[in-house]
Amino acid sequence: MAFPAQRPCRLRRTPVLRRLVRETALSVDDLVAPLFVREGAREPVEVASMPGQVQHTIESARKEAAECAALGIPAVVLFGVPATKDATGSGADREDGIVQRALRELRAEAGDALVLISDLCLDEYTDHGHCGVVRDGRVDNDATLDRYRAIAASQAAAGADIVAPSGMMDGQVAAIREALDSAGFAETAIMSYAAKFASAMYGPFRDAAECAPRFGDRAGYQMDPANAREAVREALADVEEGADIVMVKPALAYLDIVRAVAEATRVPLAAYNVSGEYAMLKAAAAAGWIDEPRAMMEVLGCIRRAGADMVITYHAKDAARMLLRGREA
Ligand code: PBG
Repeated sequence: MAFPAQRPCRLRRTPVLRRLVRETALSVDDLVAPLFVREGAREPVEVASMPGQVQHTIESARKEAAECAALGIPAVVLFGVPATKDATGSGADREDGIVQRALRELRAEAGDALVLISDLCLDEYTDHGHCGVVRDGRVDNDATLDRYRAIAASQAAAGADIVAPSGMMDGQVAAIREALDSAGFAETAIMSYAAKFASAMYGPFRDAAECAPRFGDRAGYQMDPANAREAVREALADVEEGADIVMVKPALAYLDIVRAVAEATRVPLAAYNVSGEYAMLKAAAAAGWIDEPRAMMEVLGCIRRAGADMVITYHAKDAARMLLRGREA
């Protein structure tokens, strides 16, 4: 049946009608806030390319975590910026490493009111900036897995609820699951960056985490942006290896991947609204070219509509405030 019987605009006439027929919703329960913690920092350091984001001291990260929890944000994901770097990224699995210390402090602050996720990777900790151990000018996948095992056990011991491997090494989820189980951390969950693309959208993050590769790029281990079937294959492999949550990253140019992975898997799905996506929106807003709150809520809502159960986003606190205000209105 076509026009005039079909008039979809009938159900768009008033806000409450639109609310009645709305298909998906964004809730504060869906938000995960990333936090950068810098070893040795005396005060928070602003990240120029990510307005509103800072490299935290442990103390300011603690406050930030408390604010997130108070807003109802269920989880934060921690990224460490160590004071020194070396070839094997030895700072990543030190008991007194920056992320391990932050995990203990945040746990003391927030108790069980906040899920603590730790990014599990080497690029922030290696002097060459790659996500693994380098041999003969290349990242050695299997040697890297041994490092990831050690990092997983050390982050779990420091209190991570979830470890989030972001290095895109083959077999990383199986290796980490085995390491966690044999170290007595059967309850520590894994959120795998299952389909992480070699994207230009990570530029601002690399400023924030000081982890740009010193030579080459990450295309030998991160995915080719042209590939969708392979993303589904990666996600299925990670579920088989024991991933509790899978992630697609970046989010916005990859919503077809979010949808495909949502349909192919039965585990919770995260999408990472990455630093470049945040920076583009902030820059356009600062220039007066876009309505920032509306653009933000649209972007986050559409990531949910594509099939993501949770959104990792630097907008988390602002979005949580908007959602709380909406509830009062
Ligand atoms: C690697 C890692 C990166 C991001 C999260 N984990 C950077 C990279 O792969 O180069 C990017 C996140 C963002 O851009 O917001 N540890």
